[in-house]
Amino acid sequence: MKKRILTGIRPTGNLHLGHYFGAGQTWRNIQDEYDFYLEIADVQALTDNFNDPEKVRKNVYEITKDILSIGIDPEKVHLFIQSKIPEIAELTVFYSNLVTVSRLQRNPTVKTEIAQKKQLFGNNGESITYGFLGYPVSQAADITCFSGEFIPVGDDQLPLIEQCREIVRKFNNIYGETLIEPEPILSNTPRIKGLDGNEKMGKSLGNAIYLVDDEDTIKKKIMGALTDTNKIKKDDPANPDICMVYYYHKLVNDNNSLETICSECKQGKRGCVQCKKELIEKMNKFLDPIREKRKYYDENPEEVNKILDNGTRKAKEEAEKTIKEVKKAMKIDY
Ligand code: TRP
Repeated sequence: MKKRILTGIRPTGNLHLGHYFGAGQTWRNIQDEYDFYLEIADVQALTDNFNDPEKVRKNVYEITKDILSIGIDPEKVHLFIQSKIPEIAELTVFYSNLVTVSRLQRNPTVKTEIAQKKQLFGNNGESITYGFLGYPVSQAADITCFSGEFIPVGDDQLPLIEQCREIVRKFNNIYGETLIEPEPILSNTPRIKGLDGNEKMGKSLGNAIYLVDDEDTIKKKIMGALTDTNKIKKDDPANPDICMVYYYHKLVNDNNSLETICSECKQGKRGCVQCKKELIEKMNKFLDPIREKRKYYDENPEEVNKILDNGTRKAKEEAEKTIKEVKKAMKIDY
C-alpha cells in the first residue's frame, strides 16, 4: 500500500519561488509514489485574516490554480478545502487539552509570526487571538485527520510538525495507540532568499517572484535584484556568492552555464546588466510551461471546482473514519 502524505498551504496569496523550490517541486516529484492529500488551509488563513474573508476566498482559487499549474495531477493528489471538513475542527477542540498555552507561545514559528505582527501593528501583542495562538493545534488536526505519515514542507514548518508529534504522543499515551506520528520531508532547497538578499522570500517582505508574474514584472524585479555592492564598474571583479542574480541563476540555469557565469563574474568579465538579462530569459523559460497550464485553468474555472469537489469528497470519507476512531479512543462514541 502507498504511504500517506499530507500537506497544506494557507490561501493568502499566490505561490512564489520560495514555495515552489521549498516544497511545490517536491510535491510534484513524489506524487506518483504516495497517497497524497493536499489541503487548502482556509480556516488557518482566517486565523490572522478573519477580517478579510474576501481575500481568503479569492486565494483559495488562486492557490489551487497555482498548484495545478506546477504539474500537480488531480488524478493523483486529493486537493481539498479545509473548511469543508468539519472533523478537523472537532479534532482541534479535542487536541486543545493536550497542549499548554506556554508551549504554544514558545513554538518558534508562532513566536516569529507574533514578532512580525508586533512590528507591523506596533502593539504589545494584544491583537494576538486565541485562534491564532492555537493554529498549531489545528494543524496537528489537519495532519492526523488524514493519518499523514510524511509531511513535505519548507523548513519554517518544522516546529509545527514537532508540535504535532508531541500532541500525537500525548494522545496515544492517554487514550491508547490511535494516531500516527508524522515525519517532515524537506527539499534540497528548503528556504529561498528574496530579491533583496533577505534570508526568506515572502509576500509580506515584498521580495518575491511569483509564478503568475508576467514577463514585464519579471524584468522589473530582476533588474532591481541585489548584486555585489562592491562592484561599481562593469568590469570590476565581483563575488557571485553574495549576488541574488547568481543565486537565482543557480535555481533555473544548467551547471555548464553556471560555471561560466561564476568564473566570468569573479574575473570581472561579466557586467551585471548582461547577467540580469540572461537571468530574465532563463526565468521566463522556466515559468512559460507553468503559465501555459495556468492559462488553461483560468479559462476553465468549472474544472477547478470539479477538482476541489472530488478531492474534498475523498478527504471527507477519510476524515469520517478518523473521527470515529478518535471518539472511540476518547470514550465519547455514544
Ligand atoms: N502552515 C502552513 C502554511 O503556513 C499550511 C498548513 C496547514 C500545513 N495545514 C498544514 C502544512 C498541514 C503542512 C501540514 O502554509
